Amino acid sequence: MVKLIGEIRYKIRYKFKCKRGYKAPLMALFLWNLSAAAELPAESPAATRRSELISLVRQDCGSCHGLTLKGGLGPALLPATLKDTPADSLKATILYGRNGTAMPPWQRFLTEAEAEWIVSQLQKGFPLEK
Ligand code: HEC
Repeated sequence: MVKLIGEIRYKIRYKFKCKRGYKAPLMALFLWNLSAAAELPAESPAATRRSELISLVRQDCGSCHGLTLKGGLGPALLPATLKDTPADSLKATILYGRNGTAMPPWQRFLTEAEAEWIVSQLQKGFPLEK
């Protein structure tokens, strides 16, 4: 009986070792893939597009809202002045403009996700151009 258990143990250990031999690199590859995939969703819009959007807001939007976004022809777009307006309403203003005012629609140039990103950045304090 003791001998039998010993033999089974040996077999199990032997099998485990054999398997681990090829499993380890596969596992490493799998984990590497996972970490690569996990980084993707965080980057939307992509980094290059983000810097284009920052220039667009600073220059085009800034021509009316002020280069420091403190207001001009259009109102200030600072965290303090936007804090009582829901994000959805700000996003709609950016995408569709405001009829009867100078605020033009930007939906030809921006996706919904990009407009959402701009709103989230304006609410935090818009980043400066690099
Ligand atoms: C031609 C001038 C002009 C340009 C360019 C412009 N805006 Fe405006 N924007 C305005 C005006 C004027 C208003 C105020 C409209 C009103 O009276 O309701 C406004 C309003 C807004 C509001 C609403 C603010 C609030 O407190 O409700 C947001 C957000 C906004 N603009 C974002 C942008 C963004 C982002 C861009 C660039 C993608 C941009 N604007 C470009 C003129 C402009």
